Amino acid sequence: MKKKRVFLTRTLHDFALKELKKKYQIEIHSGKIPIPRKKLYFKIEEIDGLICFPYDVIDSELIDRAKNLKVISTYSVGFDHIDTEHAKKRKIRVGYTPEVLNDATADLAFSLMLDVTRRVSEGDRIVRKGDWREIFGAYDYVGTDLQGKTLGIFGLGRIGSILARRAKSFDMKIIYHNRKQVSRTKEKTLGVKYVSFGKLISQSDVISIHVPHTNQTDQLFDKKIFQKMKNSAFLVNTARGKIINENDLIAALKKKIIAGAALDVFESEPIGKNHPFAKIQNITLAPHIGSSTKETRVKMAEITVKNLHLGINGKKPKFSVGY
Ligand code: DGY
Repeated sequence: MKKKRVFLTRTLHDFALKELKKKYQIEIHSGKIPIPRKKLYFKIEEIDGLICFPYDVIDSELIDRAKNLKVISTYSVGFDHIDTEHAKKRKIRVGYTPEVLNDATADLAFSLMLDVTRRVSEGDRIVRKGDWREIFGAYDYVGTDLQGKTLGIFGLGRIGSILARRAKSFDMKIIYHNRKQVSRTKEKTLGVKYVSFGKLISQSDVISIHVPHTNQTDQLFDKKIFQKMKNSAFLVNTARGKIINENDLIAALKKKIIAGAALDVFESEPIGKNHPFAKIQNITLAPHIGSSTKETRVKMAEITVKNLHLGINGKKPKFSVGY
């Protein structure tokens, strides 16, 4: 019997490729990343399964080109790059990789929070440039303590809850806002308090974003929000770049409307050295590495392959978006 055809917009671990090759005829895009849209536009017509990455835009136009496609398996927890509603209409399953990256992403959010409040990366830049002059002065390179400060978690889901646990051990006070308040038991276990979005914004010393990018959260953090934050507050984002209005954030950081920011995700990635963020000192920038640990990336590959197997055979992926 002819093997089903699977296309990967980028390579994965050897073990994952080996696994896929046993059952499918696989083709892997090499060269320019992300794959040029035109290539995917033609490729999607011929394949049964697609493995993609968070920067591959799989919209309705592309989905409509597919003739045999049974499953789109994304190597990411985020799926805002896929028109999942349209995929569903076309009876194409969508698999994603939640759970396994919760710790890694929460850890990164925590390390970004520490980094920006203690000015670690800023100090690193100063030392590397040979600009380290002041030694141990009362006002030199002083940061901000986390102990006793209020962490506002926007989105107390899987990742936000782990961040709460980390922050608790740093003696932080934790407030959160969700569309839906979590159970009292969970609040008690985590030591967190539910507040309105307005209170989260005005009371937090650090706000960490852990919600998906949707129509409701698109550009949510804008000028109006920054003005309501404390001047001494920091913003951390490991979720999706489009949740923040970047121009407004640049202005807020330059005018010291807020104290600093630490970002792992951006509106358009990658950003280069000429991006306005790269010229600002009170910001820590990371190259979208929330899930980027050896252990986590292996687990993500395992799930991506599993989701693909199930979907291509007409079954619901282990982690499936809706259908
Ligand atoms: C994802 O998997 O969507 C994350 O952004 C990776 O860090």
